[in-house]
This record gives sequence, structure tokens and C-alpha cells, in this order.
Amino acid sequence: MSTTPTPADQEFAGRTALITGGASGIGLALAHRLAAGGASVVVADYDEAGARKAVAELESAGAKAAAVAMDVTDPASVEAGVRFAVDTFGALHLAVNNAGIGGPSSPTGEYAVEDWNRVVATNLSGVFYSMRYELPAIVAAGGGAVVNMSSILGTNGFAGSPAYVAAKHGVVGLTKTAALEYAARDVRINAVGPGFIDTPLLRNTDSAARDHLVSLHPAGRLGTAEEVAELAAFLLSDRASFIHGSYHLVDGGYSAS
Ligand SMILES: NC(=O)c1ccc[n+]([C@@H]2O[C@H](COP(=O)([O-])OP(=O)(O)OC[C@H]3O[C@@H](n4cnc5c(N)ncnc54)[C@H](O)[C@@H]3O)[C@@H](O)[C@H]2O)c1
Repeated sequence: MSTTPTPADQEFAGRTALITGGASGIGLALAHRLAAGGASVVVADYDEAGARKAVAELESAGAKAAAVAMDVTDPASVEAGVRFAVDTFGALHLAVNNAGIGGPSSPTGEYAVEDWNRVVATNLSGVFYSMRYELPAIVAAGGGAVVNMSSILGTNGFAGSPAYVAAKHGVVGLTKTAALEYAARDVRINAVGPGFIDTPLLRNTDSAARDHLVSLHPAGRLGTAEEVAELAAFLLSDRASFIHGSYHLVDGGYSAS
């Protein structure tokens, strides 16, 4: 049975949601999921053309949406993107800090320092910069919810991906800390940990590596962006009203073994 909301559900009506990395993959699926629930959606991405295309699709489905060019590694760009969301739709209630990159694969003792810096800047500092500017706006709106996109690699190691794994573990700790700080101000902040998901992030994976990734999931397949979006949408909704500061896996059983 499908859990996709019908337009009548409209549980996000009157709410504005900002999604970083909303032009592709999980962020794009979530943009459609929140829009179907009635949210006004700001697609924030450094792929400006991709963000505009996503907004055109959302608008043609009847949603209120706007695109903004944002590089999450640049605090000034993030601050401007959050201001754009508030100026465009009047307030910010929901945020999904989802922009991320994979980075190259190489052992820790050989990992290029510039690759480390780029992956950590995007996947960890980008989440901090985003919350740094989103949280005051969400408090000013009277409360809301944030989902930070971690990974199964926010709890497991993965040989060859030291920067990605460290950044995704960092997102879990940052999420818990911010949640403690903002729970009494009616902002719920949680993290999502997807297993490997069939999105453009895996575009450089050859078929042997892909088979290996599939074998890590007892479900016998990779996940879909929509399956991750469904969990994130639940955590953003009022149905998750007592869920603060926790890390939720959607991983086809990866972590159970
Ligand atoms: N695909 C997976 O297997 C998987 C698994 C676990 C977690 N994740 C996480 O989910 C999130 C989304 O990944 P995806 O699989 O949808 O990837 P994707 O490549 O399809 O989408 C990522 C989006 O982030 C944007 N982006 C990258 N760097 C940016 C920056 N500096 N500023 C603004 N936007 C930027 C890209 O342009 C792209 O639109 C990432 O944080 C990723 O680490 C993905």
C-alpha cells in the first residue's frame, strides 16, 4: 500500500521548507514529497540550472517553489539562501540539510588532504553553516523541524572513505547537540542515515562495486530516493512531535548484521 500523501493530506500546508542539494537524488525526491504535502519548497543547490529545473517540475505539479543558488561550503552563500527563503515565502519552518558529495576512494594514509578538506567542508561544515542560519529563522517563525542527512556511514566505518565517514559521524553528533539546544524552543532536529541509495551520487560506481554495495543490504537491492524522502518527511511532520535529537536508519537491513 502506498504511503504517498494525497493532496488532501496537506500536512505541510502553510510551511516553508528549504532543501539543500534539492536539485538531485534524495533532495529532489524530498522536494516533491514535501510539496505534495502542501509545503512551499525552496530548492537550494550549487547546481543552479538543476535547481531551476526542479522548481519548474514542482510548479507544473501545482506546488509553490523557488530556486536559489547556494554553495553550502560558503557561509555567506548559505546566509543569503536562508534570507531568500524567508523573503520569498515569509518565514522558514522546515529545513533539510542534504547537500553532499562522495569524494574519491583511497586509504586514510594516502587520502589527499585537499579531498579531505572538500568532503568535510561540504558534508559536515555545510550542515553546520546551514543550521547556523536556519535555526534563528525557524525560531523566529515560532518553531519547526530540521533533518540532517547523515548516512549508514554515520555509524559504520567504510574502507576507502575516511573523510565521508568522519563527516557523516560528525553530522550525527552535531544533530544531537543542536537538538538539545533547541528542543525547548520548539525546533526538533534529527538525522537520517540511508544505506546505499540509487542516485546520481553513485554514478561513478562500476558494476562490480555496485554488486558489492547491493550485497551489503539484506534487502538485496539499493534503496530509492523516495524511500529516504518518506522517512525524512515523517520526521519533519507533526506526526514526529516527540522525536528530538535522534538518528534514524533507512538501510535495507545493512546495520542489522
Ligand atoms: N546515495 C547514497 O547512497 C547515499 C547514502 C547515504 C547518504 N547519502 C547522502 O544523501 C545526500 C544526498 O545525496 P544523493 O545521493 O541524493 O546525491 P546527489 O548527487 O544525487 O545529490 C546531491 C546534491 O547536492 C548538491 N551539492 C553538492 N555539493 C553542494 C554544495 N557545496 N552546495 C550546494 N549543493 C551541493 C548537488 O549539486 C546535488 O544536487 C548526501 O548528503 C549524501 O551523502 C547518500
